Amino acid sequence: MIRDERIPADELQRIDDEIRSNWSTGDAVDFEEAIDYHESLPQRKRFADVLESADKPLLQPRAGVPRLDDQIELLEYLHGEGKADLLPTTIDSYTRDNEYEKAQEGLEKARDTGEDTLNGFPAVNHGVEGCRELIDAIDAPIEVRHGTPDARLLAAITFAGGFQSFEGGPISYNIPYTKRHGLEETIEKWQFVDRLAGAYTERGVRINREPFGPLTGTLVPPSIAIAIMLVEGKLAATQGVRSITLGYGQVGNIVQDVAALNALKELGNEYLPDEVVVTTVFHEWMGGFPPDEARANGVISLGGMTASIAQPDKVITKSPQEFQGVPTKEANSAGLRTTRQVIDMAIEQQIDIDGIEEEQDLIERETRCLMDTIFEHGDGDVVQGTIQAFDSGALDVPFAPSDSAAGAVLPARDDDGRVRIFEWADLEMDDDIKEIHKARLSQRADTEGRDQSFRMVADDVDAISDGKLIGRPQGGA
Ligand code: 5AD
Repeated sequence: MIRDERIPADELQRIDDEIRSNWSTGDAVDFEEAIDYHESLPQRKRFADVLESADKPLLQPRAGVPRLDDQIELLEYLHGEGKADLLPTTIDSYTRDNEYEKAQEGLEKARDTGEDTLNGFPAVNHGVEGCRELIDAIDAPIEVRHGTPDARLLAAITFAGGFQSFEGGPISYNIPYTKRHGLEETIEKWQFVDRLAGAYTERGVRINREPFGPLTGTLVPPSIAIAIMLVEGKLAATQGVRSITLGYGQVGNIVQDVAALNALKELGNEYLPDEVVVTTVFHEWMGGFPPDEARANGVISLGGMTASIAQPDKVITKSPQEFQGVPTKEANSAGLRTTRQVIDMAIEQQIDIDGIEEEQDLIERETRCLMDTIFEHGDGDVVQGTIQAFDSGALDVPFAPSDSAAGAVLPARDDDGRVRIFEWADLEMDDDIKEIHKARLSQRADTEGRDQSFRMVADDVDAISDGKLIGRPQGGA
């Protein structure tokens, strides 16, 4: 039975040897030599140091193309023209599924045709040497961003390749991303990723870890996201990670978003061990975007405004081409520049908004209920608690495609657009908190002159791409 315990050194070594034999580039990983390489990197490429010492929110896009030269050019553009502070390398879908053979075919096709035949950078196929060419070429810290349930080989290669930040986690890269991987399995695999990051950390090379906060990206109630961030943060800390960036995806109601980011920071510092440096990242809206660029820029700007009030350590930006998928470099840079403009105009303003403290208090109380039930389900062990709480439905994520979550809880917006819970299913929560949600939702139902129903949920899912925050009935209130 797996528990929240540190992987012993010999076990780390055994798994490392095993996973490196999964693809030919695994051979080139040499931990001691990798430590030397990291030590040779200048301060401005050290991810944790740059992020933790910033005095205003740093901006980071998503970006990944198959060929190394193209990836270098893309990141140089986003750094130079887009003025990104932190850069990404987004990994392709075959690599996320551990299909290195198919990634190789795609990479070779990309090299032959010059087309982007993969939707990201196949870092495993590029190997340690290819990764280091990228790290050497770009004058800023770079993070690996992906969505891989079993990211062990990807981590081994990219850490040795010089990357100092790695997105994802056992719940956040399972529940929203895959149906077939069980939670116990992904927790075990991510314990290795975190342990490897911990091994570098012990040698003075801090690898930043970033659990993926937005989860399914669809009206996730803040407390559910925060509880999962705290769990993944704790699991990483157990394995020796000391720089952890907890994430949260914009829901679009400014009061709730600011309150949630405040709560994330507070609870992160409270629940994670003192030796961990906790930072926060705010994701611009992860749900459906309006189809046209002008309205998409509106969504992005609201994200920038929210970030300037809440002041997270980092903002992951969207592009005005979000609707159509992977953006051009120009559109990607436009999203960065729009966000920057709004933040720089707003950040020095003293903006006081009523209700943030009250909302934060509610989010914190909800999160504590969820954390308590996790500890209780596991008799104090977070790993067992998480597995069993998901199993019983006491912990759940709306719209989760994974078999590991009930996906029975349903959110809906209240009358001023805050995300509340409409269907609790088996989610653990104090009755008085449920009553607050119920009252807020019934206020909306009154305004709209209709009953609370699944129709409301569906309307809310489409609302932002349709040009509104709340999915009101057409022609109604
Ligand atoms: N380059 C840029 N953005 C990407 N996304 C996914 N892959 C890439 C890539 N290779 C973005 C999508 C969406 C988010 C989930 O990730 O456009 O915004």
